[in-house]
Amino acid sequence: MKYIIAVIQPDRLDEVLKKLTQKEIHLVTVSSVIGRGRQKGIAEVYRGHKEQGSLLKKVKLEIAVNDEFVEPTIKAIIEGSRTEKIGDGKIFVIDLSECVRIRTGERGNEAIG
Ligand SMILES: Nc1ncnc2c1ncn2[C@@H]1O[C@H](COP(=O)(O)OP(=O)(O)OP(=O)(O)O)[C@@H](O)[C@H]1O
Ligand SMILES: [Mg+2]
Repeated sequence: MKYIIAVIQPDRLDEVLKKLTQKEIHLVTVSSVIGRGRQKGIAEVYRGHKEQGSLLKKVKLEIAVNDEFVEPTIKAIIEGSRTEKIGDGKIFVIDLSECVRIRTGERGNEAIG
């Protein structure tokens, strides 16, 4: 299992969710965050979403998936958020050791989807 974290432009969220849904990826956590990439928030201000200092408003998605869904998830996020301009975002993939559905006590592959 993997835990996929993506930081994207807020105005790409709807499109990313659409692409994920098309690939049967429905379970997701979404947060509003602030952050900066390698331009340190400076050159990207023209894309809007300016927050404080050098930090810009972003949206963070967190998706826990079974291994066969890792590549489809990455692909969907890219399809929904790539504009080829700076600040399109980044995807991080982390090994996930456990997942528990609280209601049933199911674990691992059973609990994740
Ligand atoms: N190494 C990192 N660690 C933590 N967060 C990061 C990292 N890189 C990017 N982020 C987060 O992702 C957001 C988007 O990053 P961004 O797309 O600007 O990456 P970049 O490396 O600057 O690439 P680009 O040159 O395409 O802008 C940042 O505002 C920040 O919140
Ligand atoms: Mg950047």
